[in-house]
Amino acid sequence: MSESNAPYSGALEGSNAKRGLWSSRLAFILAATGSAVGLGNIWKFPYVTGENGGGAFVLVYLLCIAAIGLPIMMAEVLIGRRGGHSPVNSLKAIVRHDKLNPAWWIVGAIGVVAGFLILSFYSVIGGWAVSYVGTAASGQLTGQSADAIGTIFSDLLGDPATLLMWHTLFMGLVMLVVAKGVRSGLERAVSILMPALFLLLLIVVGYAMTTGEFGRAMTFLFQPDFSKLTTSGILVALGHAFFTLSLGMAVMMAYGSYLPKNVSIAKTSIAVCVIDTGVALLAGLAIFPIVFANGLEPGAGPGLIFQTLPLAFGQMPMGSLFGTLFFVLLIFAAWTSGISLLEPIVEWLEEQKGMNRTISTLGAGFVCWALGIASILSLNLWSDFAPLGWIGMLEGKTIFDLLDFFTANILLPLGGLLVAILAGWVMSRKAMEEELSLSEPMFRLWYVTVRYITPVAVGAVFVYNLFGS
Ligand code: TRP
Repeated sequence: MSESNAPYSGALEGSNAKRGLWSSRLAFILAATGSAVGLGNIWKFPYVTGENGGGAFVLVYLLCIAAIGLPIMMAEVLIGRRGGHSPVNSLKAIVRHDKLNPAWWIVGAIGVVAGFLILSFYSVIGGWAVSYVGTAASGQLTGQSADAIGTIFSDLLGDPATLLMWHTLFMGLVMLVVAKGVRSGLERAVSILMPALFLLLLIVVGYAMTTGEFGRAMTFLFQPDFSKLTTSGILVALGHAFFTLSLGMAVMMAYGSYLPKNVSIAKTSIAVCVIDTGVALLAGLAIFPIVFANGLEPGAGPGLIFQTLPLAFGQMPMGSLFGTLFFVLLIFAAWTSGISLLEPIVEWLEEQKGMNRTISTLGAGFVCWALGIASILSLNLWSDFAPLGWIGMLEGKTIFDLLDFFTANILLPLGGLLVAILAGWVMSRKAMEEELSLSEPMFRLWYVTVRYITPVAVGAVFVYNLFGS
């Protein structure tokens, strides 16, 4: 192994030397964007933006990406590379080496719990995308009215058996790749499929420009109207920044453990953040003109993209082809993200419980799949069941809503907060400087951010939401 990519050794025995490193900076960027770009960008960003009134929400979200997400991503990658193991064991190794409080492995544990919970409903939505491949390919969307498109969607949600079938298929795809332990093929595929997805989004944006409501969509997305911003909107923006960048559950830590020493953590993290945000904004620009042109409701909720994009595909030339292609690419984006949700759990089971990869994948996958059934039922039979409805903030939230709320808005920011405290206050500053090798002013900027800005911002948003309003 060359000097430049020798793993951090010190007392951290048996680290990434054995596990192999990313062949290059590009391979890491591909894997990390594969994880980051997913349903969060195309399904969730537009609908939470619509629900939270647009511009002001988008502004807060962008601020959260730049001022909180990026620095935390750098911290996660750094901790992962320094530890050189799966998240839980990286943390243990660092704790041992730097003589820290053993309780820090909790950061890895939050990751495992969040992974289970997120993947359970993520796979259900992935299943929607699978279902729409058939819908688009069969030409059912061609020339349909907004009402008819809405009915196709509500028929899908009202049919637990079909939802279960697609959820099972999606979960199976994720488990297949994780069980085989070979992501390399898929990562190479990402280098073609991501640009393809980007291009298709551009085509839809091009179509959206012809609807006559592009200007209104621009205003909606980029002209902040602070009267529409609520405290809970700020929490959702913060939570979504973590969700979309795959932060707060040690995924980037896991990927960072494979990153060669000579690669700049800052530059690669910036690349991932920029690509991820670009895809989300494009999705917004594709969807909102269609929303306005067809008199739809921006706050329609989780079904938003499935009620708008099919309309566009039904109206534009070669729409069936583009529609099919789009949903296939969306499945790929969701697939690579789903893998990154399951992978840390499986690594943990392997290292911690000594189970082999196949068994760990089957076990963990089965638990996620079974939990997913609760999300499926909350779309139909249990749609009026709000188990924690007596808590003001959680009024009317179904199990599916609660899983989304609890993971994105609570667990992930909490995980991120702990990462920031670990990097900013607990690990030695010298170690940070060594890993980041930034210029002095840039390092200071990062350090001040993880030390003060991130913890204060996340803490303030939490406190406001718990005790305010
Ligand atoms: N970032 C992905 C998306 O936007 C979802 C995701 C994958 C994720 N891995 C994660 C979210 C880890 C949080 C943590 O669709």
